[in-house]
Amino acid sequence: MNTNGLSGEVFYPSKEIIKKANSKNYTDMVKFASDDFEEFWAKEAKNLHWFKKWDKVLDDSQKPFYKWFVGGKTNIAYNCLDVHVKTYRRNKLAFLWEGENGDFRSFSYFALRRETCKFANVLKSLGVKKGDRVTLYMGRIPELAIGMLACARIGAIHSVVYGGFSVEALHERLEDSQSKVLIVADGAFQRGKIVQLKQIADEALQRAATVESCLVVKRTGQPINMESGRDMWYHELMALPIASNNSNLEIMDAEDPLFMLYTSGTTGKPKAILHTHGGYMVGVYSTLKYVFDIHEEDRYWCAADPGWITGHSYIVYGPLLNGATSFMYEGAPSYPYPNRWWSMIEKYGINILYTAPTAIRGLMRFGDAWPNRHDLSSLRLLGSVGEPINPEAWKWYYKIIGKEKCPIMDTWWQTETGMFMITPMPGVPLKPGSGTFPFPGIVMDIFDENGEPVAVNEEGFLVIKSPWPAMVRTIYKDPDKYVSQYWSKFPGVYLTGDSARRDKDGYYWIIGRVDDVIKVSGYRLGTAEIESALVSHPAVAEAAAIGLPHEIKGHAIFAYVILRNGFEKSEHLVEELRLHVGHEVGPIAKPDHIELVDSLPKTRSGKIMRRVLKAKALGQDPGNLSTLEE
Ligand code: PRX
Repeated sequence: MNTNGLSGEVFYPSKEIIKKANSKNYTDMVKFASDDFEEFWAKEAKNLHWFKKWDKVLDDSQKPFYKWFVGGKTNIAYNCLDVHVKTYRRNKLAFLWEGENGDFRSFSYFALRRETCKFANVLKSLGVKKGDRVTLYMGRIPELAIGMLACARIGAIHSVVYGGFSVEALHERLEDSQSKVLIVADGAFQRGKIVQLKQIADEALQRAATVESCLVVKRTGQPINMESGRDMWYHELMALPIASNNSNLEIMDAEDPLFMLYTSGTTGKPKAILHTHGGYMVGVYSTLKYVFDIHEEDRYWCAADPGWITGHSYIVYGPLLNGATSFMYEGAPSYPYPNRWWSMIEKYGINILYTAPTAIRGLMRFGDAWPNRHDLSSLRLLGSVGEPINPEAWKWYYKIIGKEKCPIMDTWWQTETGMFMITPMPGVPLKPGSGTFPFPGIVMDIFDENGEPVAVNEEGFLVIKSPWPAMVRTIYKDPDKYVSQYWSKFPGVYLTGDSARRDKDGYYWIIGRVDDVIKVSGYRLGTAEIESALVSHPAVAEAAAIGLPHEIKGHAIFAYVILRNGFEKSEHLVEELRLHVGHEVGPIAKPDHIELVDSLPKTRSGKIMRRVLKAKALGQDPGNLSTLEE
């Protein structure tokens, strides 16, 4: 990295930041990893506990089905908890948690291990075995982390469904994963209201044949339906003798599955990305250690939702593997007032804040007085993830929140990558809106349509050219799709689905998705999910959804709908359709705008030309229309 004479606007880190950083030897790290990335990851892996050391770091004999730490035996939950309980970290806080209503709870490493062991034994007593799937559907509460860790401990595969999803989304994921157990909360506090999680689960469960037991965590205490023989209270089970403290640890192969997480792709239904115990563990442990520079005394806050990959990697597994103290907050950033986040940073002395551009833009809108009223001097590092951060929001975050002393780690990665892939480290000079460079050992490039690297500043397909430990292993039950979706456009190279450019200093700039994925407030949705929800309404014959730029959410959803014969266009119907999508997929998928139309632009083979809809909505030239049907 040559940091002299960088082009554009550059922000340099202070000497104190560089001196403290775990990555103070950044240049050496990059060189070591680029000379031999297997050795780099092996060195990182040695910081973790293995019941048996691996025989081989990387097995690439069946590309693209790469295997990492082959022959190694470990368990990620053991590394997250037991390892620390044996040391001075035994009574260190693992989690501090604040509910939206002001409730407070905290867990030492000792307590978190105890609760996890107890719950693992509850799951075992319900017949959950290694390899069984368990779905979790809750708000941001500690039991979500306990549930995930308990699954990992006994080798069950967890599938967390984001609490903002609704009936059909939950039902589909329960069916596809063939989950044996569903763990749900009675409800969640969000913006002062209660999200009826159990009620949604009841509806989804009516058609989910494989679920034998539904365990209910009491969070809100409102009356709910409990179906006898199926539903059981978490706290009642945890009080029984079966919920013993016995370790009951399953020793896992490095390549045994840890979790699956559904995410939206180019076409069709969401697919489950599969991650494993060994490689994923090494990847999230070391990326967090270096990028967010975790030190013993830190209080780290990742404000994402555990229901998405950011929460899996950097609320639950990454921080615990590092023995960190994390803060978790249940509710909305501006509830009851726009200073909620800032007041908690002051109250708990948070040192590291990791959030999404959409949240930053949303809070920026309320003005500087709200954060300025609080002492934010504990902050040392800031982070951003989920979508490109516009320079204006970056600078506000840097100046008003970080007081011009906190570098911003703009981390680019995906559900599939499991860990940070393009990211600064605390000593790297920053350019607002750029995630800087690939993490050491990660080889990325930007290709044109023919698979040739593009010139400086030219836009192209962002690709990954070497394997990495936390990489997706396959799509659950669909290895062919794994190959066709990620490894086929450019053989042997992983296709991210994003477009990007690289400037003359080698800084990467992400432009956005090139497929039919829409990022709404950083959440990943497929046009197909929104369209199939619309088409499931009796009034809808055909539908097309697109994402259009939105000041706060990054993208807003616009939908175009053709009604069936016999249905009249009306404002009332438009509203009904919006609510229908909310009920089927979840409130985040509700179109911002629905237009009732008489036809949709299609190719001769009947494919909807979303780019034409997009261009029309933006008043732009739709480009080549030669394939458009008359
Ligand atoms: O388009 C990129 C965008 O989010 C996509 C991945 O979404 P998901 O799997 O839900 O994971 C989000 C959290 C890791 C990417 O393909 N994206 C993620 N981080 C950034 C980003 N776009 C620009 N800058 C980022 N820092």
